[in-house]
Amino acid sequence: MADSRESFEFLTKRIDEALKGEEDRDGKLRKVCRLLKDNVPYYNWVGFYIVDEKRRNELVLGPFEGERTEHTRIAFGRGICGQAAQIGRTFLVQDVSKEKNYLSCSTNVKSEIVVPIFKNKKVIGELDIDSHALSPFTNQDEAFLKRVSEMVSRIL
Ligand code: SME
Repeated sequence: MADSRESFEFLTKRIDEALKGEEDRDGKLRKVCRLLKDNVPYYNWVGFYIVDEKRRNELVLGPFEGERTEHTRIAFGRGICGQAAQIGRTFLVQDVSKEKNYLSCSTNVKSEIVVPIFKNKKVIGELDIDSHALSPFTNQDEAFLKRVSEMVSRIL
């Protein structure tokens, strides 16, 4: 991308529009996944995990774009997703081969960022992005994805 700030600004607007659309919740979330995966070359798998309302300490896979994954339910504390949910903060792993508590989806994945989605200060879900590149994520990605999570929180 020529200027990632500009692109993230543009994507933020497109995501805002998608979230204001007519579709149901999952339709909107799928659109967000598609916008992120199709417009940022190093976002190779983009998905949402939602906290199971009945079993508060488990994440359930929601809409996603990319390869199918066997990790459709993840307990809090397990893998990068479970750790981010338990601790309630963004987990950025620039090289997954160095992370011991990691659930592998595909050998192509080299790095991952997981951003929690909060409602009333509680984690209600998260945005998960896998990349086939090593160390692709910058502070700008992190700030942008936090913004996206805040926007998504409004429809959850
Ligand atoms: N790698 C994740 C599991 C989910 S997949 O990336 C889609 C983890 O370690 O929690």
